[in-house]
Amino acid sequence: MENKVKVLFAAAECAPIIKVGGLGDVAGELPRKLMELRADVRVVIPGNRDINVPSVYKGDFPVKIGFRTETCIVREVLKSPVPTWIIDNYHYFGRPGVYGHWDDGERFAFFCLSIFEMLLKFDFKPDVVHLNDWHTAPLSMLIRENEREQPFLRDTAIVYTIHNLEYQGISGRNVFDLFNVKDVVFKTDKVEYYGCFNAMKAGINYADIINGVSKTGTTQMLTSKYGFGLEGVLKNRKSALRGVVNGIDIDFWNPENDKLIYTPFNKDNLSGKKENKKRLQKELGLDSSDGPLFGVVSRLVPNKGMDILEGAAHNIARSNGQFVLLGSGEKYYENAFMRLMERYPGKVSVNLEFNNELAHKIYAASDIFLMPSRHEPCGISQLIAMRYGSVPIVHKTGGLADTVIDTGRNKEKGTGFTFAGYSLESFLKAIKRALSLYENSKEWVSLVKRAMSRDSSWESSAAEYMKLYEEARTLNRKRKTKGRKKAIEEKGEG
Ligand code: GLC
Repeated sequence: MENKVKVLFAAAECAPIIKVGGLGDVAGELPRKLMELRADVRVVIPGNRDINVPSVYKGDFPVKIGFRTETCIVREVLKSPVPTWIIDNYHYFGRPGVYGHWDDGERFAFFCLSIFEMLLKFDFKPDVVHLNDWHTAPLSMLIRENEREQPFLRDTAIVYTIHNLEYQGISGRNVFDLFNVKDVVFKTDKVEYYGCFNAMKAGINYADIINGVSKTGTTQMLTSKYGFGLEGVLKNRKSALRGVVNGIDIDFWNPENDKLIYTPFNKDNLSGKKENKKRLQKELGLDSSDGPLFGVVSRLVPNKGMDILEGAAHNIARSNGQFVLLGSGEKYYENAFMRLMERYPGKVSVNLEFNNELAHKIYAASDIFLMPSRHEPCGISQLIAMRYGSVPIVHKTGGLADTVIDTGRNKEKGTGFTFAGYSLESFLKAIKRALSLYENSKEWVSLVKRAMSRDSSWESSAAEYMKLYEEARTLNRKRKTKGRKKAIEEKGEG
């Protein structure tokens, strides 16, 4: 029988069970792909009141958190393509919302402590524990700091993916105390951070391999601009840093059989795309026009580049283009875009909501997709846009720089437009380039086809992750041998 690598994949969210952002997409898709390769995966997420999927009781046990004991109940989701366990506890997870509670530090400490107990109790002993973002990072500290007492943990390799370095899970020392590890761990070279506990720092320092979600994004993490105070810590672990980019589920995101769009299409038959545009214009009350339709699907927050987007939208509305936006976020931007719609009726459509169906329709109908994020570790929307033939214009940063090739620089391979230097001026220049290429319908169509041909599937990324798992296991074996040698030397000296 083939030897499958056993992986425990821990994350705060997992689509379609519960999703807030890109992490949820990755947790919902990557494990599935890994199972198709040579991995035996279990996903583990925390419970909350918004989760509404059928599940069965799997077990319960006491978990020591600080000086108290809480009960952890584990439920297994029914009919999930990857066995998925939900960690539950009424006090911590009996409320709605994945994030944003005053005691998030403690809630996720309980999540990590529960997974740790589960590792000891359940018969699934993973070869690799794959942790994601700050919420699960302290589990790496628990595994490594307890391996003397639980020797099997020594064989567990740790891979840590940083989806967003900005959120680090910084709490007071009191949260560190909940983990019941030795006091010496609360040091600058481990998890202490300006007198506080930094959960992400634990992941960086204890993991065998760390993955940023793109090559450029990972390099940028080492700079003071994008390191968010952890650039020094990451530099120390440079040899363990990798940059495997995310993929998308190309069966789900497929314009050929997407039930949510008006009519299917593919790169050899783009008339369906035109039809989608006409129908969306009608549905949203836009003029019927052949000018370029610009689409945006985004949270309305500064990091997504909303300030320069607002400026650009004015310019688009004054050109022969149209602008359609979907998303919600900060009131300031919501109001600004609503005013824009009032000012340019028939040219601008603003939809301040979360609407999955409309998102699909915008990807399918738009000619150009705008994503001017100030910073983007990987980004998923630009991948979906390309698959639906909506040519992306992106700020050349992080994963956007890695996944969109500027057609001005490379005519054969170009799949969109990029602009370097975050400013309205450079964004407008890229828009202008797109507008003028749009006039040349032959060249535009071949650009659309190139974008649609880009392989954004999980296949190659999942295979890369499999390599990371092997690499992490090798590194962990080396670490163990080193540790053993050191122990023997110390014994000899003593
Ligand atoms: C975070 C990042 C985003 C990335 C996603 C999945 O949401 O901000 O760029 O695509 O995680 O890794």
